[in-house]
Amino acid sequence: MKAQQKTYILGIESSCDDTSAAVICDGEVLSNVIANQDVHSKYGGVVPELASRAHQQNIVPVVQQAIERAGITKEDLDAISFTKGPGLMGSLLVGTSFAKSLALGLDIPLIDVNHMQGHVLAHFIKEEGSKIPPFPFICLTISGGHTQIVKMNSHFDIEILGETIDDAVGEAFDKSAKILGLPYPGGPLVDKYAQKGNPKAFAFTKPKVGDLEFSFSGLKTGILYFVQRNVKENPKFIEENLYDICASIQHTIVEILMDKLKKAVKQTGIKRVAIAGGVSANSEIRRRLTLTEKHNGWTTYIPKFQYTTDNAAMIAITGYLKFLEKNFSDISTKAEARLKVTE
Ligand code: KG4
Ligand code: ZN
Repeated sequence: MKAQQKTYILGIESSCDDTSAAVICDGEVLSNVIANQDVHSKYGGVVPELASRAHQQNIVPVVQQAIERAGITKEDLDAISFTKGPGLMGSLLVGTSFAKSLALGLDIPLIDVNHMQGHVLAHFIKEEGSKIPPFPFICLTISGGHTQIVKMNSHFDIEILGETIDDAVGEAFDKSAKILGLPYPGGPLVDKYAQKGNPKAFAFTKPKVGDLEFSFSGLKTGILYFVQRNVKENPKFIEENLYDICASIQHTIVEILMDKLKKAVKQTGIKRVAIAGGVSANSEIRRRLTLTEKHNGWTTYIPKFQYTTDNAAMIAITGYLKFLEKNFSDISTKAEARLKVTE
């Protein structure tokens, strides 16, 4: 029996190409270890087979480090939470199997977590200076695989107000970067170069899709044709204009996101607005959202940088919130590559 009153939750994240483990104590992060997989950069995208192999190699040391850095032992843990989906099946299976074995071995509850809920619920991590959103609030969830606007009625009562009908916004960043010859993942590089460029240098057509829906595949094709056309005339077009091209692409994407977000606020009357997911690391969306506090009277919730891209702290906080509700999973729970944010 433990002689402590505190609740320690281990979170394990392995949905895509980052192996991560974190320990949370009563909602505060004690450790958040992330092993990135560089092996994919030269392929221009995540190679599923290589990702699951790397997870297999990383999972034991990453979990050990997370427990060590938290200053506890595995016997102090109250539950094991892990990402059930959505994600790459081979990647999810590594985390799922490991979490099950550990929970069985320690004889403690197992808690499965929806990755996209994790991104949103990272806003509930208790930390110095953190602003926790009251319900209901709107959240723009933007990652490599998702683009959605959701209404959060409570931690686990989620309504999808709108989503992409084709590509995710992270893919739009990564594929644009690939067209420009930049390595995967290109989103952070487009962001970096955009800071030195003119966002109005080039104009790209914004998609015309209904209401709160998004579409990025047309934009991607537009960028491809634009680059091909210009490179034909001037083979050095990309290197001579890289900063301006990146700034213009980023400006167009952020405009699309902000337009829809403004519509969602207007439709719902809810002015509490959060962003979540890997693309919420983008400096321009963060800047534009901050401006709306001043100009539109919104209260905005921008996650700390370390909780934007995939991390296990978001899985552990979601596990903790489920733990408080005694919402445990049966050992027969399965990884699911396709899981809706509402499931
Ligand atoms: O949430 P995440 O780590 O993984 C998924 O769940 O998909 O998101 C990864 C995505 C990638 O597409 C990556 O390029 C993008 O987030 N990303 C960014 C930035 N940082 C990461 N996109 C634009 N600007 C950034 N600073
Ligand atoms: Zn993610």
